[in-house]
Amino acid sequence: MSHFYLFDTLSLHAGQTIDPEFGARATPIYQTTSYVFPDTDTASSIFNLERGGHAYSRITNPTVGVLEQRIAALEGGSAAVCTASGMAATFCAITAILGQGDHIVASTQMYGGNISLMKNTLPRFGITTTFVDPMDIDGFRAAIQDNTRLIYGELIGNPRPRYPGSRGHRLNIRGQSHPFHGGCHVQHTLPVQVF
Ligand SMILES: Cc1ncc(COP(=O)(O)O)c(C=O)c1O
Repeated sequence: MSHFYLFDTLSLHAGQTIDPEFGARATPIYQTTSYVFPDTDTASSIFNLERGGHAYSRITNPTVGVLEQRIAALEGGSAAVCTASGMAATFCAITAILGQGDHIVASTQMYGGNISLMKNTLPRFGITTTFVDPMDIDGFRAAIQDNTRLIYGELIGNPRPRYPGSRGHRLNIRGQSHPFHGGCHVQHTLPVQVF
């Protein structure tokens, strides 16, 4: 769908499969925790993640599934995962790719919950962070260590609205002493999501 339709159409319809029973235009809100399966083989293969499908709403839910596909289509991404809060999203994103002994280089100008997560909580799980002024691109480069797996910042800092891109800065991580084999996580909470 994303290859053909423009942003406005995607924002209304991406990810939705029309309800085959009643043809509802709006996505139904499925208020279910659990699901009925045609047989035990189907149930076990969905629970074992051998095939797609919904097993339990804390993991996936058809309504949330539409939202995830819609966001992925709007962002030009391959997939999205929705969580019930921003901090849950941040924690899931970080712990999906980092583990004990890994290191983050993060902006000093971030939402307090993110600072606290990296300063107080993640070190208890063996993940450490070096904080750098987001306008100091060379500082980011210099803070990269052998075990750095993530560079983290907010597109516009909260509460101090610093925007690293405003000076045309680009973080070029090639050619430094420690090769970087990690990810870049940019939080997009403060800017307007849909223009
Ligand atoms: C930049 C930023 N990140 C994360 C959060 C946390 O989001 P939540 O309160 O949904 O956990 C906030 C909340 O204000 C925020 O401003």
